[in-house]
Amino acid sequence: MTATIIDGKAVAARLRAEVAEEVKKMVAEHGVRPGLAAVLVGENPASHTYVRMKRKACDEVGIDSYGYELPENASQEEVEELVRKLNADPKVNGILVQLPLPSHLNEEAILAAIDIEKDVDGFHPINIGRLAMKGREPLFVPATPKGVIYLLEEAGAQFEGANAVVLGRSNIVGMPTALLLVHKNSTVTIVHSRTRDIPSVTREADILVAAVGRPKMVKGDWVKPGAIVIDVGVNRVDDPTAKKGYRLVGDVDFDEVKEVAGALTPVPGGVGPMTIAMLLKNTLRAAQIALAKK
Ligand code: GUN
Repeated sequence: MTATIIDGKAVAARLRAEVAEEVKKMVAEHGVRPGLAAVLVGENPASHTYVRMKRKACDEVGIDSYGYELPENASQEEVEELVRKLNADPKVNGILVQLPLPSHLNEEAILAAIDIEKDVDGFHPINIGRLAMKGREPLFVPATPKGVIYLLEEAGAQFEGANAVVLGRSNIVGMPTALLLVHKNSTVTIVHSRTRDIPSVTREADILVAAVGRPKMVKGDWVKPGAIVIDVGVNRVDDPTAKKGYRLVGDVDFDEVKEVAGALTPVPGGVGPMTIAMLLKNTLRAAQIALAKK
């Protein structure tokens, strides 16, 4: 069996075009344009790359973006003060504080300082808390987990009653993805570093989401034949033949798993573009919420 390859890049392009269309309408009808503020603290090179990509994507769909860079040694008060300033700025509909933050900063307090109506990353404790509770609706759902669910829907996943296994329990991906799968009525297992006999758990999965940050960890014999596999991993591995000296691989051993799975996302070109598309959708929604309150 050879898996259907889920083209995240194509799905994301379609979503971006839809956002661009909605932005155009908003500008024409109301004379306002959505705005996203991106806050970067410190020098983490991957974070700088991600923020650059997010801002470029904003530009391409007509969303204004405002970049704020603070030094590695910025104080808690400085970061929170910036967040409060952005909360009060009517041009800013969404506030994104790129994670991880330098370790001396209190991430929870900074995320809690964001106005929940501008919390386009969905990491505010109230938004995450609502996601964890039955019958509550978060205003925003984190972008990568939202992209994962979207791709599963595209691949025709039957969520109801399915065994869904999430590898990894991070705040940004694993945990919110597991919560979204519970909302979809799947039977969810979270696998992590202390799990005994991981392959015996993953082999039961109809839906398998890998988000652990370990290159090619998921092997062909970890996967149930026909399963839908979503690979969130983005790992740099040395490759002297590549221009940059490295290449990107996922948490899934693509060549092995494509022979077993029913559908599989590639890295790159799977979940990555969806994260950005979902951030744009969340920012548009934040602008719509602000407009409705005027
Ligand atoms: N770091 C890794 N992924 C994300 C994300 O989706 N949002 C933010 N703010 N930081 C991240």
